[in-house]
Amino acid sequence: MTKHSPAKRVEELRRELEHHEYLYYVLDRPEISDTDFDRLMRELRDLEEAHADLRSPDSPTQRVGGQPREGFVKVPHSSPMLSLDNALNEQELREFDARVRSLLKGEPYQYVAELKLDGLSMAAYYGVGRFKQAVTRGDGRVGEDVTENARTIRSLPLRTKKDRITSESFEVRGEVVMQRRSFERLNEERDQAGLARFANPRNAAAGALRALDPSVTAARQLDYFTYFLLQDGRPLLSSHWQTLETLVAAGFKVNSHRRKCGGLDDLLEFIREWETKRDTLPYETDGVVAKIDSVEQQERLGWTSKAPRWAIAFKYPARQASTVLENIEVQVGRTGSLTPVAHLKPVNVGGVTVSRATLHNEDEIARLGVQIGDTVLIERSGDVIPKIVRVAEEGKHRRPFRMPSSCPVCGGHIVRESGEAASRCINTNCPARLRESLLHFASRRVMDIDGLGDALVDQLLARGLVHNIADLYELKLDQLLELERMGEKSASKIIHNIDDSRSQPLARLLNGLGIPFVGERTAQILADHFGSLDAIAAAPIEVLQEATEIGPKVADSIRQFFSEKRNRELIERLRTAGLSFTAPKVAKKQGLLTGLTFVLTGTLPTLSRDEAKTRIEAAGGKVAGSVSSKTSYVIAGEDAGSKLDKARGLNIPVLDEAGLFAMLDSPPDGKTQSHS
Ligand code: IVH
Repeated sequence: MTKHSPAKRVEELRRELEHHEYLYYVLDRPEISDTDFDRLMRELRDLEEAHADLRSPDSPTQRVGGQPREGFVKVPHSSPMLSLDNALNEQELREFDARVRSLLKGEPYQYVAELKLDGLSMAAYYGVGRFKQAVTRGDGRVGEDVTENARTIRSLPLRTKKDRITSESFEVRGEVVMQRRSFERLNEERDQAGLARFANPRNAAAGALRALDPSVTAARQLDYFTYFLLQDGRPLLSSHWQTLETLVAAGFKVNSHRRKCGGLDDLLEFIREWETKRDTLPYETDGVVAKIDSVEQQERLGWTSKAPRWAIAFKYPARQASTVLENIEVQVGRTGSLTPVAHLKPVNVGGVTVSRATLHNEDEIARLGVQIGDTVLIERSGDVIPKIVRVAEEGKHRRPFRMPSSCPVCGGHIVRESGEAASRCINTNCPARLRESLLHFASRRVMDIDGLGDALVDQLLARGLVHNIADLYELKLDQLLELERMGEKSASKIIHNIDDSRSQPLARLLNGLGIPFVGERTAQILADHFGSLDAIAAAPIEVLQEATEIGPKVADSIRQFFSEKRNRELIERLRTAGLSFTAPKVAKKQGLLTGLTFVLTGTLPTLSRDEAKTRIEAAGGKVAGSVSSKTSYVIAGEDAGSKLDKARGLNIPVLDEAGLFAMLDSPPDGKTQSHS
């Protein structure tokens, strides 16, 4: 095999991608941009497409999710996956410790303290350093085979780092969790799709792990934190601490917040420390797990039928309380969406006074069956806005909430589109929308204008200094100096920060425009695909849909935005202000089909629509949504409809799947000739 053989390059790319996945998903310390990562991934995918013999289930390309299944196969565990006994307060923890001490007859012992992650446990089996199978906890004795779904979890290594674990086959156990951000995003998407929200990240993670279609699991962005390393159902190493260190060295994700504790006092200190600090973590923790470090001592302490006698879960008190729902007020967001907010009789929940809780939308209020005047159970978790869990007691004089028919801020029309959970104020001049759009525009993940927060925006609006985002770029130092509590230093800093934001990349600007359904991710996709704001603004709906993940709804929303005169004027002012309207264009692949545009219609005999698209794009071709004079070929399958008629009308050549394969120079079964 030559130095530049595809096999060699494939292996090189896999190693490189594994390394970057590890940096990003396990260590949370990425070194390359998403675009560079995607470029490497695409090169690998192209090579695997072209060389069937080089494909492998543990390639990073396989994380996207394979074929949907009918159900899950049951698999017995190598040893029971039991639960943990709980200690609900310090006293119960002391009793546990006293029992351990007496069973170990005065011998010295150590604890390992770890956070108790609020997810679901899963076992993952490895053979010769490769991921083989994943099984859910199930009833503790028998679980379900979720291998294909687990493969999509980026922090689960498909290959372990060499020689760190010497045994041929082993099993790891750990917790599958969904980060708060992914959870929030998922619920927002469900709102937009008119689906019920998930109550908590654990339920969402459980649903994702057991989804019949692995691509659903992939989209939910799960994480896997490991804590056990077993062989034939028994610990491989003699100390738990050493197990965690070995897992880290082998490339597994292990929660970094752990501590070796010499005794109960150390353990209590760890517990106290994390009681409030846990709010700052990106995932939820509901307690601390303490395990005896020595495996030999663990074995002597043994198990009850339910749980080990060598470990305990200290549960933080639930941050819940009941209070009266006094009113429901409606807030207007930056896209005009109306959010009902609960006004509560102030109550202390885990050390914080709570007087507001979000109710999301009308469907959520209906799901909870809550009415004004009811006593409700509220819960606070992390630093997110508290939520109402359920009605604790119906109020005597309860009254149902009705979504207003006109905007509470501007009196404008309210509409609720079918299939959407949110009602919206459609007045684009609504002051509430303006305030929220300015705050969104200035926020850290968007244009990152430090210092432009609530207080300043409110003052700018009250004095009529700003009527849209373009006005920000015309603010003068002396205008700011007239504002309350504004010194020379902070005023010039703000002007400087606004100035600096002119060079923010196009994707951020696009996100900042506040086009409905165009958030951070979609903005990045659009910027990468089209390369300039003008190209996006000019693109017809079908062309917009040529970008990955852009469906008709998003495309329509973008079209509508740019078709409004006031938005076009705004864009021109931003152009004059010198904001970045172009993105460095990702180099397009040169291939057999470079310069050709294809339209797919009907059902092809072997390829799915997506597979055909991937292959065409991999060869440098473009796939468009509708037939026009610019179409080079139409690929038609069974039940092809109007697109085929249109192609014939325009005299555009029509090919079947075999014709496409011929152009791709690859036989229909997708295999290339063997190299041996
Ligand atoms: S040890 C028999 N460690 O909590 C050993 N479990 O209440 C049990 N959990 O089923 C597992 N974080 O799903 C362990 N650091 C941690 C954990 C943890 C969360 C979950 C796990 C377990 C449940 C027991």
